[in-house]
Order: sequence, then structure tokens, then C-alpha cells
Amino acid sequence: MAGLRQRFGRTLRLGIIGGGPDSWIGAMHRGAATHDGWWRVVAGVLSRDPVRSREAGAAMGFDPARSYGEVSEMLAKERERSDGIDAVAIMTPNDMHYRDAVAALDAGLDVVCEKPVTHDFAQACDLVARNRKQGRIFAIAHGYSAYPMTRYARLLVREGALGPVRFVQIEYIQSGLATRVEEGPQSDRWRWVLDPRRSGLALVMSAIGCHAQHLACSAAGMNIARVAADVRPWLPGRKVVDSVSALLEFVGGARGTFIATQAAAGGENDIRLRIYGEKGMLDWSHREASYLRLALQGEPVRTVGRGDPFLPPEILALGRSPRGHPEGLREAFANVYAEVAQERMARSLGEAPPELPYPRIEEGAHTMAFIEACLASQEGGGWVQVAQLQG
Ligand SMILES: NC(=O)c1ccc[n+]([C@@H]2O[C@H](COP(=O)([O-])OP(=O)(O)OC[C@H]3O[C@@H](n4cnc5c(N)ncnc54)[C@H](O)[C@@H]3O)[C@@H](O)[C@H]2O)c1
Repeated sequence: MAGLRQRFGRTLRLGIIGGGPDSWIGAMHRGAATHDGWWRVVAGVLSRDPVRSREAGAAMGFDPARSYGEVSEMLAKERERSDGIDAVAIMTPNDMHYRDAVAALDAGLDVVCEKPVTHDFAQACDLVARNRKQGRIFAIAHGYSAYPMTRYARLLVREGALGPVRFVQIEYIQSGLATRVEEGPQSDRWRWVLDPRRSGLALVMSAIGCHAQHLACSAAGMNIARVAADVRPWLPGRKVVDSVSALLEFVGGARGTFIATQAAAGGENDIRLRIYGEKGMLDWSHREASYLRLALQGEPVRTVGRGDPFLPPEILALGRSPRGHPEGLREAFANVYAEVAQERMARSLGEAPPELPYPRIEEGAHTMAFIEACLASQEGGGWVQVAQLQG
């Protein structure tokens, strides 16, 4: 991969859908995509209102000719340009993801898509099929599994440092729904978030539970086979789902626990992953994202830090500053964009890209199957099989 960028000869061009000036994740995507110089953000559709979209693009510094009013207009006009976009990044409200992803794939573009990738598993399977047919790259914006230390956790498990995995504990605790926001003033954002037809099958899963499930599966290297879930709001009488706790059984037999809540007053994007194997355990917390605690049975506990010189080069490459200098979610997001870019450039040059662990549409489909299984478990009680992708 050395010299890939020079061989490709130019920066990749990204069009964004959603993520206008009022959206913090929009700034995160733009910053992450451009962080290492792999991408330039050159075009966008930034609002569902065409006039506001064009105004927002110009206000954010886009070329007015590339600040579009509609997705179909952006795809058509960019196709006519010799310097048209290579990919789109979708960060619209959840109910738009599927429609925009289909349009982008049909236009022959690569896609980076926000989560939840679709409304349900059937739509996600359709995107998997379309993506395979078109031979495109389709990444999901799960930043937490792209931190250097969560990637190192994944590598340790894959290399057998813990021995066969016995148990995985994952939790994502947050306070976004700790008060009765549904009774407060309604912004555009709250209107779509609090409408289950727009935000998805279970709000907490669309918002943060999908990240937790993805991090657990990615680090442990296993899909979830069965789940027994408690899907009930912590706040009495609430119509949206603010919390899910569940027992897990992974493919292969390892077990685990899952907690995702947005109703924890005082909680602040508190994510914790623990994986227990036959030989020992690892422990990662979002509060100290640059460190991983590794405890092997009978040995002193080790705290591994991002930037430690003994780390494998592919893990060191995911960090940008020496140990002790803070890095965060933007850099983790930038790792996803960097990997998508490298795969795209390598493919275009006819070179075989190495196996890059950015989250793929297949993983997004597994998330949707997991969400459906949690809801079915609440409905019928007890353990429910998680549908697996065929093929
Ligand atoms: N990966 C993460 O960590 C993370 C964090 C926050 C949000 N998100 C995801 O990002 C997405 C957006 O969430 P948000 O909090 O930014 O929402 P938001 O409502 O704050 O912002 C949505 C943005 O999209 C624009 N928009 C709305 N409809 C559009 C359309 N039809 N075409 C083009 N633009 C349109 C709006 O003008 C706004 O700028 C959601 O899917 C959410 O799940 C992901």
C-alpha cells in the first residue's frame, strides 16, 4: 500500500447527503473525511428543502454550482463532470438512508452511510445484494470500532491471545432521553427522532445500541446467534424505546450481556467492552479510549496505550499522535474514511487491497437482524434466533 496515493494521483471526491450546518455529525464526517488528505468534500445536499440546501452549501464554503437541492440532481450533475464525485456519505435522518443508498449505488458510487443503515433487515439485505451486484464499497459509520485500541482488542482476540472467547460484556450508557424530551420544545431533529416511522424500529438501538452491538461483534469477531431481550422504556408511559438489556449467545457458543440506554441521567456516551477468554480478559472504556487493559490469568495486568512502540504497525497506523496526547472520535471516524479510500484507490489501480476492517454493509445487515430479534424477544418472551445473511 506504500505510495498508493501517489500512484492513484489525486484526492478522492466526496459528496455529502445531510449533515448541514445544524448537525454535529455532519461536521464530524467532513472533518474525518478530510483529516488525512484522502478525501475532499466537494458537493452536497444539505437539507430536504432545496432552497435551504443550496444556501447551506454555499454558507459552508461549497462551490455554489455543487450545492445541490436534491440527491437526484447531485448524482446526475456530478456524473456529467470530469471531476465528479467518487462516493457519497449519507448522514440524513434514518428513514432516508435506504433511499439515498440505493440511488448512490445505482449511480455507481461508493457509499459511507450512517447507522442504522436501513429501517429493517429486509432493506439491509437488499443493499447487500445491490452492493455486491455493483461491486462497490459500502461502509457504515461506526467510529467506536475504529479506535486504535478497539482494533487492537479485535486483533488480540483474532490472534488467540485470550484463548477461545467465553463471554462478552458490552454497554453503552447515555442520558439523551433521561428527561421527558417528548414534552419539551420540538426541533426538526426531535420531530424525526421521536417518530418511530422515521427513526427506526427501536429508538435506542437506532441511536446507540447499534454501535454497542457492532463494537462487541467486531472486537469479538463473531455474530450474534440468539438473544433474549428486555425492550422496555425506563421512563413509565414512554412510547419510544429508551433502553434495551439482553442476554446474548454468539455463533460458536460464547455468551454475553448487552445494555444500551439513553435514559441514564448523568450518563455521557459511556461505552464499555469486556471480553473474557479461556486465558484472560481485555477491558476497554470510551472514557479512556487510548488505553486497553489486558489481564491474562496469573500474569500482571498490562495497560496498553495507543502509540506503544511494540504494537503492530497496522494498529500504530490508526493513531496520529504520541502516547499521552489525546485523540478521539474524529480520528476514529477518519480511520474508516482512510480505509475506504485505500480500498477504493487500490481497486481502481487493479491492485489487491489488504483486508481492511472498516464496517461493511454486511455488518449493518447483522445489526438490523439483531434489532428485529430483540423486539421479537420482547414480544414473545425468551430466546429468539437472529437471522443471518445468506451467501
Ligand atoms: N455515527 C454516529 O456516532 C452518529 C452520531 C449522531 C448521529 N448519527 C446519525 O446521523 C444521522 C443524522 O443525525 P443528526 O443528529 O445529525 O440529525 P439532525 O436532524 O441534527 O441533522 C440532519 C441533517 O440532515 C439534513 N437533512 C434532513 N433531511 C434531508 C434530506 N432529505 N436531504 C438532505 N439533507 C437532509 C438536515 O438539514 C440536517 O442538516 C442519523 O442517521 C443519526 O443516526 C450518527
